Amino acid sequence: MKITAQNKEQNITADILIVGLTRHPENTKGWEEFSQRFDGKLQGWVKQELSFEQHTIITYPTMSGEIPRVMFIGMDDRKKLDEEAVRAAFGLAGKELIKKKIKHAAVYLDSFQNDAVSAEDAAYLAAEGMGMGMYSFADYKTSSNETEIELENLTLLTDEGSEDIEAAANIGQVFGESVNEARTLVNMPGNILTATALADYAQEMGEQYGFEMDILDKAQMEELGMGAILAVNQGSVEEPRLIVMKYKATDAFEDPLALVGKGITFDTGGYSLKPKDGIVGMKGDMGGAAAVLGAMKIIGELKPAKNVIAVIASTDNMVSGNAFKPDDVITSLSGKTIEILNTDAEGRLVLADSVTYAKQLGATRIIDVATLTGGVIVALGMDKTGALTNDESFFEEFLEAANETGEFVWRLPLTENDKKRLRKSDVADLNNSPGRDGHMIFGGGFVGEFVDNTPWIHLDIAGTSFTSAAYDLGPKGGTGAMVRTLAMMVESLAEGK
Ligand code: BES
Ligand code: ZN
Ligand code: ZN
Repeated sequence: MKITAQNKEQNITADILIVGLTRHPENTKGWEEFSQRFDGKLQGWVKQELSFEQHTIITYPTMSGEIPRVMFIGMDDRKKLDEEAVRAAFGLAGKELIKKKIKHAAVYLDSFQNDAVSAEDAAYLAAEGMGMGMYSFADYKTSSNETEIELENLTLLTDEGSEDIEAAANIGQVFGESVNEARTLVNMPGNILTATALADYAQEMGEQYGFEMDILDKAQMEELGMGAILAVNQGSVEEPRLIVMKYKATDAFEDPLALVGKGITFDTGGYSLKPKDGIVGMKGDMGGAAAVLGAMKIIGELKPAKNVIAVIASTDNMVSGNAFKPDDVITSLSGKTIEILNTDAEGRLVLADSVTYAKQLGATRIIDVATLTGGVIVALGMDKTGALTNDESFFEEFLEAANETGEFVWRLPLTENDKKRLRKSDVADLNNSPGRDGHMIFGGGFVGEFVDNTPWIHLDIAGTSFTSAAYDLGPKGGTGAMVRTLAMMVESLAEGK
């Protein structure tokens, strides 16, 4: 999709014009002139039967060769317009464009603006929202003979400087495309997206953006003593991978932020086997890895002034004669020993070694992201990411980034009593499953045991990484949760120095 900005007074040729319709549309900047283009008919249509309600879309033929159709999107009261609503509206618009097989769309940008949403904001949100809305997963059906029609051109009509508008839109486009890549990773089945395949994908991305790459195989993990990742991999015929990517904003590579992702390509639960209803969908247990990779793509494209290390531990969690078992005691990379009470609590194990490794590589701040617990879904539902932290101001900055991207994050407490229960074991330093009461806290809290005093944020995306119903910004399936917020946080840290 090529995005250009153009002065709205100039001639426009496009297949469709997208207009945000608020109550009292005649107050929209430039409405009168716009209406003239369609012989004043714009006004007439609006008076007829159009709804201003959010989520309504109506398309009219214009009988004009310049722009044969106008698509109105209900935006309610202009005063109440915010970034969330504008992003969602463009998501819906994107879906509609695909349905109508439109190749060239124009946007009347003013109609999506108010005091809170500037022309640049609207341009950014148009590109990001439409990019996300237009996503579909190229599945494996052999019967489909339909060739996908893609939107090729998006023209943003404005009277602001077109360079600034285009720059903002291009950033939005990068965000949208990176979310979509993460979605595709989540949607890919475990037999195709193995740990090796995930590492190959990362390697290719690393080469594209000039990241310093280091991908550890099983032998290297054994040498280093990554007993926790290896335990999870023990029952598998697939090799594990530890993916390390360094984005160097400065030669000295000072003060890097680590983004650590859970990359379980399929989670059977192991000997603590999941019930048959709970096992379907577990191809998505690498949503944390996908979030980190999506964020790294944005970082590679936009090159913020902040050093970043990505660490992703990837394996499947399988059952076999070799698999690890409840009651096993394992030794992690940190040296801490762990009593296994539940082999289905495997995410925290691979994260433990990943976090330790990130620290060994010099990380001064850590954010881990994982589809870690069903508990976060019980606590917060499917639409909120759960968080833990050991650093108030770090977390506050993160919440601001999340606020900007519109991704809802809610913090849960991690108390000394919780930590005590993690450290309760007759035979080892820690146990990997203290109980089902408040178990989102135990999942993240376990990872925290390996973080020590390094400023840290844990993100549990078990609810948000995958959706069983289509929504404004995308279809059902992988959502790309936290891709944008992680990248926005890196941007924020880059600006802060
Ligand atoms: N991958 C699951 C968590 C999960 C559940 C992700 C539902 C997406 C949807 C994780 O490895 C797991 O099995 N967690 C257990 C932990 C328990 C054994 C302490 C859980 O949440 O039940
Ligand atoms: Zn599990
Ligand atoms: Zn899991």
